[in-house]
Amino acid sequence: MENLKDKVAVITGASSGIGKATAIELAKEGCKVILISRTKQKLLDAFNEIKTFTEDVTAVVCDVRNYDSVEKAVLAIIKKYNQIDILINSAGIAIRRSFKNTSLDEAKDMIDTNLFGTINCIKTVIPNMIKNNTGAIVNIGSIAGLIALPDLSIYSASKFAIVGLSQALYYELKKYNIQISVINPSATNTNIFSNESWQNDKDNTKLMEPEFVAMEIIKAIKKKKFSVVLPFSARLKASGKNIFPGIYDWYLSKRR
Ligand SMILES: NC(=O)c1ccc[n+]([C@@H]2O[C@H](COP(=O)([O-])OP(=O)(O)OC[C@H]3O[C@@H](n4cnc5c(N)ncnc54)[C@H](OP(=O)(O)O)[C@@H]3O)[C@@H](O)[C@H]2O)c1
Repeated sequence: MENLKDKVAVITGASSGIGKATAIELAKEGCKVILISRTKQKLLDAFNEIKTFTEDVTAVVCDVRNYDSVEKAVLAIIKKYNQIDILINSAGIAIRRSFKNTSLDEAKDMIDTNLFGTINCIKTVIPNMIKNNTGAIVNIGSIAGLIALPDLSIYSASKFAIVGLSQALYYELKKYNIQISVINPSATNTNIFSNESWQNDKDNTKLMEPEFVAMEIIKAIKKKKFSVVLPFSARLKASGKNIFPGIYDWYLSKRR
């Protein structure tokens, strides 16, 4: 999708981090942007910020875990704009705990938000994209969806699932002219780490800024790229893991 001007773009997780930065970039490209997330005040703050880039911005409070409320939101958007051209699935949560100490409620919440949230949004949006024979869907995966990381077992599972879902849909939806991209960032400077489970994290990894990830998302849409791993060094790590699995086994075991 080369020209994004006047495209209707729905962004989940748009009140913060990568979702908000992407909504801003899409607004700068001339898109009509619809922001989705759960917390009204955070969403309103993002709405006011994005209003400085475009007149055409709408905010919808919606929990992506709930299929009925996603369907209601999407039908209202289609009623207003007649079409949805771009869907960015950025709503997500991450709890960093050993598998042993992760409660079933926490596990369910991560799978429901990161995986079913994405499934719910794609399910409700594609009938309109198929009808219009056009669309771009960007799923935010993670480097943890390519390299399983200790203390992130359920999060990794949710993101491996996102990569698998994206791969299958890439082939399945091609005939309807719907392009699928999966963006797999490494650690990015967002509120995702404000969850209490990250407080004792001693990892000194250099963080990317969400604005950088957002620019790469825009490039992926324009150039119809299927898979993007960020930054470049993470791409090398992800490929290296497949070529030299023994080294990764040693490295990750040593980190424990
Ligand atoms: N930051 C990183 O290091 C990193 C790395 C790789 C991948 N990612 C992925 O990037 C995506 C965006 O994360 P981020 O880092 O930008 O985190 P963030 O700053 O915490 O943003 C998460 C967004 O998702 C929304 N959200 C959470 N649960 C939701 C739900 N059930 N329904 C609707 N909206 C929901 C949040 O708003 P409300 O809480 O108000 O709903 C917020 O707008 C996630 O999928 C994450 O897994 C992040």
